[in-house]
Amino acid sequence: MTSHQIRQAFLDFFRSKQHLIVPSAPLVAKNDPTLMFNNSGMAQFKDFFLGNGTPPSRRIADTQKCLRVSGKHNDLEDVGFDTYHHTMFEMLGNWSFGDYFKKEAITWAWELLTEVYKLPKDRLYVSVFEGDSKDGVPFDQEAWDLWKPIVGEDRIILGNKKDNFWEMGDTGPCGPCSEIHIDLRSAAEVAEISGKSLVNNDHPQVVEIWNLVFMQFERKADASLVPLPSTHVDTGMGFERLCMAVQNKTSNYDTDVFQNTIQVLETLSAKTYGSGNEPFADIAMRVISDHIRAVAFAITDGQLPSNNKAGYVIRRILRRAVRYGYSYLGFQEPFFYKLVPVLAEQFKDVFTELKAQEDFVTRVILEEEKSFLRTLESGLKRLDTITTTLKQKEINVIAGDEVFELSDTFGFPVDLTALIAREKGFIIDEAGFQEALLQQKTRSRQDAAKEATDWIELRESEGTEFLGYDFEETHSHIVKYRKVKTKTGDEYHIVLDRTPFYAEMGGQVGDTGSLFLSNVTSGEEGQVVQIVDTKKENDLFVHVSRDKNLDEALQHAGIIVAKIDKNRRDKIKANHTATHLMLSSMREVLGTHIGQKGSFLNDEVLRFDFSHFSKVTDEELRQIEDRVNSRIREDIVLEERRNVPIQQALDLGATATFGEKYGDFVRLIIFDPNFSFELCGGTHVSSTGHIGMFKFISEGSVSAGIRRVEAVTGKKALELMRQQEETLNKLKDLLKNPTDLVKAVENLLEERGSLQKKIVQLENEKIQTLKVQLQDKIKKYQTFSLLVEKVDVPSADSLKQLSYELRDQVENLIAVFGADIAGKPQISVFIAENLVQETGLNAGKIVKDLAKEIRGGGGGQPFFATAGGSDVSGLDSALEKAKGLF
Ligand code: ALA
Repeated sequence: MTSHQIRQAFLDFFRSKQHLIVPSAPLVAKNDPTLMFNNSGMAQFKDFFLGNGTPPSRRIADTQKCLRVSGKHNDLEDVGFDTYHHTMFEMLGNWSFGDYFKKEAITWAWELLTEVYKLPKDRLYVSVFEGDSKDGVPFDQEAWDLWKPIVGEDRIILGNKKDNFWEMGDTGPCGPCSEIHIDLRSAAEVAEISGKSLVNNDHPQVVEIWNLVFMQFERKADASLVPLPSTHVDTGMGFERLCMAVQNKTSNYDTDVFQNTIQVLETLSAKTYGSGNEPFADIAMRVISDHIRAVAFAITDGQLPSNNKAGYVIRRILRRAVRYGYSYLGFQEPFFYKLVPVLAEQFKDVFTELKAQEDFVTRVILEEEKSFLRTLESGLKRLDTITTTLKQKEINVIAGDEVFELSDTFGFPVDLTALIAREKGFIIDEAGFQEALLQQKTRSRQDAAKEATDWIELRESEGTEFLGYDFEETHSHIVKYRKVKTKTGDEYHIVLDRTPFYAEMGGQVGDTGSLFLSNVTSGEEGQVVQIVDTKKENDLFVHVSRDKNLDEALQHAGIIVAKIDKNRRDKIKANHTATHLMLSSMREVLGTHIGQKGSFLNDEVLRFDFSHFSKVTDEELRQIEDRVNSRIREDIVLEERRNVPIQQALDLGATATFGEKYGDFVRLIIFDPNFSFELCGGTHVSSTGHIGMFKFISEGSVSAGIRRVEAVTGKKALELMRQQEETLNKLKDLLKNPTDLVKAVENLLEERGSLQKKIVQLENEKIQTLKVQLQDKIKKYQTFSLLVEKVDVPSADSLKQLSYELRDQVENLIAVFGADIAGKPQISVFIAENLVQETGLNAGKIVKDLAKEIRGGGGGQPFFATAGGSDVSGLDSALEKAKGLF
């Protein structure tokens, strides 16, 4: 079976068991503060397990793009060195949400593996949770009893909490699990050592392929376990490992999932994978063919490489790949980007989003590679300086701080530093590096520190009903709340059963407003709670308040009135609709390649990032602005369609953003079906006329291939124009109301230029006159000529000019000048160069000494030096002192 057939067989099998097949969620996790990237199939269904939402079907199956490079599940360091861990991998999964439980999960898994994929039964082992007394969870007898008749006791292994109790993160849904392992060794090896003893022992050919998790608990922030409202099944099968097993290989990289990219690398490097001659070249090919998937799909799903958070994770993966290519495959030029087309082709039927953005992804990777290769070079230079200095001091250890600086500032991977250091006969202070790293981690943890209590549940509810498209206020109940300590102060997070508050999403900021509480027992009007922000946490709408001491009031609140700040929302709406009009106009003016890469809008401004490879010219900006404004004047009425099946919306040609997760039913926002037609969950004006006016305020580059524009609308645009008008009026006033302002300023500049020239000329004439006068004041001695004078010159520079010109006329000159230049004392000392050499006199030293008289300091070269000071009255004594020196 090809990998395509293997994937398809999985989906078909579970379809035949009445599962709904859904698409993978984007690789980049949205609205989940505990997760940067989707790290398992269940991440997108987390809320269904917690009871915060209702699944579209109680049985679901899919293949999910996962990334395990940060947080609880992190396999990065193993990738490439072994043959079965990956950064990005596909997880095949089937789920039961309160429907079937262990029996079906176990029998179906066995049926699929042995009857569809025909994996040999005598090579399969299963594990069962042995129980954990600390958590109070017993041995999983039920799973044992179900497996025993299928595989026999001999093939069951008991596993501890580490291996057989699955948790997504520090908190969240979890439960005991049963893993299925396969032994892919040769018959001879099997005869020698039993596969059973190798399970969970990091043997590359005795690996776990499928994990069946029986979700029964929720792990709370205080580490306690609480039973879930109902039981569920969450399974995850490593697709690449399954392919290895079905295709009878001994490494994931030998399957057709990776061979395409490996073959390209072989051609580019003229090396053969698996030849056994160059182990590091093999590792490099594995690293690269793995990492390209993570990087390409992350960019496809909207996560660009950058310097912080998720973007930095992607940048590091990319750099790891590039540097393996650089060190072991001889790639000194960009190469990584060349693998994108291979992947796009391979996945064109499964994850179509990569093919659709192939050009964009390729260019982003190319730019990143170029810049990293430059970094590598400067890092190498820095390393060179470090080792040269150490060599002089006869030290052979590179300090931890230096290694850290190389990695932190130069993006120079530690293993590369170690490698090059070794080549040069140095070692690195590994412990010192770890220490520096730890300090940085602690610093960033402190920065991010947030402490939350568990939710205090006040009533049952299935998620939040959002009514904010139609209402500005609702009657609601408080479902739960928690207290959170943040760096900026304490917050209450409040969840309601229904709300008009829009929670930050799709670039639109969260609403602010008030909750009017009433006391449920007394019926009295209660407190008014100020809501300063609304955020989405999975499917929950979290209302944030910074008011103090709310516990009592929240706990006793009956029906409350939740009311948004309408005025602010109106401005937000205008900015959101303007963003849509702008995107469509950009596509008309700049081309249809323009794709949304980031959006932010609040009541003040709209900011929009998009894929485009050159600067948007002023003329183009004007054209876009004109189009948006003419659409505003047309006053196009909003056509909003809710609950449209996603496929129907896409078939109609609606604009969707890559990397956004859309449900089965979507909302369409249309302003003239031939102009702006988008999938969107935001709030919009009822007709475009409400926007009033649209004006760009900036355009610039964000990163390779991404530009950013900012614009304002309505009253804000008017205010901006007023400000500019005021500046203009002030200028006109200052210039006495010229008919042509620009011409007047040009004239002014011209006049200034010619005046400056004149000044220079006059100054020069003055110096010449002065020079003639000074000639008479030079005292000739036997070996030198001395001139010590207070002079009237226009600038400090003139002292130098004067000294140099006199030097050309008088031999063996020593000239000391003092001058009062616009209230500031200035001294210069000149000593003819031959005198410097013969006598050792030093103008720099002398001027420093003289400067004391004018309360200042200075310096320069042995033959000419200057000093400035703050006490003009000291000039005379300085010159007196000078006379005494020679
Ligand atoms: N959620 C389980 C895992 O990722 C299936 O292993």
